[in-house]
Amino acid sequence: MTSRIDGSKIARRIRASVADRVAEAARSGRVPGLATVLVGDDPASAVYVAAKRRAVREAGMRDFHRQLPERATQLEVATVIDDLAHNPDVSGILLQLPLPAHLTAAALIDRIPVAKDVDGLTTASAGRLARGERGLRPCTPSGVIELLDAEGIELRGACVAMVGWGELVGRPLTQLLLRRGATVSVAHEFTADLAAVTRPADIVVVATGVRGLVGPEHVKPGATVIDAGIHRTSSGLTGDVRAAELDGIAGRITPVPGGVGPMTIAMLVVNTLRAAEWGAERQAVPA
Ligand SMILES: NC(=O)c1ccc[n+]([C@@H]2O[C@H](COP(=O)([O-])OP(=O)(O)OC[C@H]3O[C@@H](n4cnc5c(N)ncnc54)[C@H](O)[C@@H]3O)[C@@H](O)[C@H]2O)c1
Repeated sequence: MTSRIDGSKIARRIRASVADRVAEAARSGRVPGLATVLVGDDPASAVYVAAKRRAVREAGMRDFHRQLPERATQLEVATVIDDLAHNPDVSGILLQLPLPAHLTAAALIDRIPVAKDVDGLTTASAGRLARGERGLRPCTPSGVIELLDAEGIELRGACVAMVGWGELVGRPLTQLLLRRGATVSVAHEFTADLAAVTRPADIVVVATGVRGLVGPEHVKPGATVIDAGIHRTSSGLTGDVRAAELDGIAGRITPVPGGVGPMTIAMLVVNTLRAAEWGAERQAVPA
């Protein structure tokens, strides 16, 4: 029997607990706030940003949104980010990706102060993760860790196959897993024999952007399979894993939708609260 890991339910629990803490902070006049910055009118990005803003408002936080036109210049976007960086009411800043092709994303991301970097994508946050220092971790990888914890899956000593080494998911997640004591093998597009890497694993995490890449030939019976992929098809959302074919083989599996996706939004809400707490500490003790 393969059981499905209910990411929506775990995410709801996390968001409710953040809402309780926000209500507590609000009683002493400190309401966390998230600023989302959306450049252009990519429909998928607009849907993601709307979902993030809704989650933030539902947690009782302030929603600061900045919409810029497709033709906005590097300097115009940078000025908006700098303005938000200096605004004490803004706890966290999220620059929605991808940006229009004429903009240099890395330089804009790096304008976000490390204590407001709720997406955990700045060079400073990546460095802090690599060194195990305090910092905000990228939302999808930390959501995967929360899912595994919520399921009571032991990470220390576990053999994990990380399929995909992308900047948003695979790379930071590899580091988080290593810090939790897992033995991690990383596979990528040049891996000659993917099954040889994934078959021995107790946990297989897939984040490649390749629809249906992983199937029964890659998974040992009883293993946990986490699918971070998201693909829009005419029959709905699907992932990087051929989930139906793993029925009766995997021990547990995350569905798409309803697995990793909702956790990403829940962790954004968590990160906004953490950013607010970190910001308040910094104000109390100037660095
Ligand atoms: N669930 C969420 O909320 C969420 C959030 C972010 C990203 N994602 C999804 O996660 C996936 C990865 O995102 P990313 O930004 O890290 O991707 P990326 O494009 O930066 O990296 C993809 C990685 O997959 C590897 N890869 C490609 N083909 C492969 C193959 N045949 N075999 C093994 N590895 C292969 C590449 O080498 C690369 O390391 C995407 O599907 C994306 O949609 C989901």
